[in-house]
This record gives sequence, C-alpha cells and structure tokens, in this order.
Amino acid sequence: MDLSVTYMGLELENPIIVSSSQLTSNLNTVKKAAEHGAGAVVLKSLFEEQLLADTDRLLDQDEQYFWFPEAVDFINSHAKEQGVNEYLTLIEGSKSQTSVPIIGSINCNTPHEWPRFASALEDAGIDGLELNISISPFDPELTSQEIEDRYVEIVTEVKKYVQVPVAVKLGPMFTNPYRLVQQLERAGADAVVLFNRFFQPDIDIEKERIVRGSKFSSPEEMTEPLRWVSLLSNRVSCDLAGNTGIHTAEGVVKHLLAGADAVQVCTTLYKNGLDYLETLISDLASWGQEQHYSSIGQFQGKLSRDSENQAAFERVQYMKKTLAEV
Ligand SMILES: Cc1cc2nc3c(=O)[nH]c(=O)nc-3n(C[C@H](O)[C@H](O)[C@H](O)COP(=O)(O)O)c2cc1C
Repeated sequence: MDLSVTYMGLELENPIIVSSSQLTSNLNTVKKAAEHGAGAVVLKSLFEEQLLADTDRLLDQDEQYFWFPEAVDFINSHAKEQGVNEYLTLIEGSKSQTSVPIIGSINCNTPHEWPRFASALEDAGIDGLELNISISPFDPELTSQEIEDRYVEIVTEVKKYVQVPVAVKLGPMFTNPYRLVQQLERAGADAVVLFNRFFQPDIDIEKERIVRGSKFSSPEEMTEPLRWVSLLSNRVSCDLAGNTGIHTAEGVVKHLLAGADAVQVCTTLYKNGLDYLETLISDLASWGQEQHYSSIGQFQGKLSRDSENQAAFERVQYMKKTLAEV
C-alpha cells in the first residue's frame, strides 16, 4: 500500500511524524527515528527561555560581570548565539545524515526577535518550520482578540523571513479555533498542528505541594484534537496534523479518516521506543489493505465530508434521548 502523503508542501513517505521533544533533540535519536521509518521529524523546539537561562548560567559563573554590567549585553548575545549555533549544528547533522524531511521548531511568543532566527534555521537546511506558540492568558488586560492577533502577527513576520513552509502548533484552548486557523492560513501558515499538550502541574495532597503532572498523554486525550481535525478539514485549505493521544495505528487511522494530512506522535515513542514507528507504519498499511485501499488519499477525510458526521463532531452536550444512549 502506498502510504505517501503531502504535508505542508513536503513529500512524506508515510503520515507519521515524530513530534518535537527530547527524542528529537540530538542527532542519534533523530537518525534512529529516520531509520525506523519516520515520515518526518520535528526537532526539539528552540526556546527563548532556554537561551535566556543559558545567559544566566554564564553570568552566574563569573562574578566579574556584577562589576562590569556593560559586559552583560555582550554575554547575552553570545549565549544566544551559542544556543542557536548548537541548534544549527543539529539541523545540519540531521539533514546530512538522514533523508527524511526535517522540520525545525521555535517556541516564540512575540513577533519581534524570533523571525530572525527562523531565517538562520532555513539557511542551515530545514525543510519546514513549526512555530510552537503559547501565549499565556494570565493578563486580565489582554483580550482574547489581542492574544489571537499576536499569533497571526508572529506568522506574518516569520513568513517575511523564510521561504520554507511554516506550520503553527496550537494549544487546545481557544474560543473559536476555526476563526483563528482561518486567520493563520491568511497570514501564510501552510499547516496547523492540533493540538500541543502543555506541561501540566498537579498537587501532592500528602506533601501539600505542587508537583509535575504526567508529561505523557493517554489515548483518551485524542478525542478533542480529532473533533477539531474533523471540523476544520473541509473548512480550511491549510494542512492539518493531528496530535496528542495518538498511541497506536488505530489512532493514526482515525485522524486520517477525520481529514488529517499527517499525525505527530511523542508519548507512544517514549513508552515503546523509536522502533515502535515500524509497528505503527505496518499496522497502518495492514488496516489499509484489509479495507482494500491502495493509497492514503482513498480514505483520507472520508468521515468528515458527510454533514451528519459533521453534526456529530459539532455536538457538545449530552442530550438524554434514549436510555441506551446515556
Ligand atoms: C518530554 C517532552 C518534551 C516536549 N518538548 C516539546 C517541545 O520542545 N516543543 C513542542 O512543540 N512540543 C514539545 N512536547 C510536546 C509533544 O511534541 C507533543 O505535542 C505532546 O506530547 C502530545 O503528543 P503525544 O500525545 O503523542 O505525546 C514535548 C513533550 C514531551 C513529553
């Protein structure tokens, strides 16, 4: 069965992309992902906070900077440069030592500094760029519109600096994802990833303190991304990648039937190893053969073209009709 797809203008041998995480932060694991058949790899995000932390670490190491504050600016830009240089080396290695599409990722929350880094990533050879944007909504003065405008501004700015296709990885909390995705598409986004799964704090009630919640998803978390992939797949023309909670080929198939152009997986590879990519790919191919499909295009989006199915995905309330339905 032909598993090839096009995602954000890139030709992928199959629709299973390794999403951005520590698994894609070094050349060895990127190479392993490619060897085990990844359709594409999204490198670990280059974080603004991480670059600033590097700066602080450098400054902490030497107290002379306390006495020579003018040196701080120099160190600041030097540390940033160093962080970016490491990332560029990872891109160059990944490009020269694998043949899968390599998507760079930057975590950017303002349209100001990051577009510049985007063009450096492009020069290093990335095939596409994913913008991992998460603007914290903790300022009561900031309206929803202003927050969404900032997402759009970031895409507009980045598109001025790069020619490679750009995807935006969104979190799940928006009042109207449809409108936002439409705006992102107008600003030039080639694809949208639905949805990112953010760090989740929890509370330990024995010790009465904040602890880290599970960094891994469960398969039950797949339904909300699936709903939005289905609702948007016929309404927007940019590509869609399903993400969060896709742990098996069954999850991959569901997203493709809903209209995803590709999927991104992370947790399942942490739990089962990067060689599990081979199982995902062969199980996907087996399902397709059993259903008598010879290509992904023959069933992709099949369940979202029907208005009754759309209504099912739009439905949010449990209305009690029959006891069997409760
Ligand atoms: C340890 C870890 C690190 C991650 N780092 C990033 C990152 O740097 N950038 C990003 O966009 N997503 C990051 N993610 C999110 C994953 O790419 C993915 O969106 C999320 O885990 C949901 O997919 P899953 O259900 O397959 O795990 C990270 C996830 C984990 C578990």
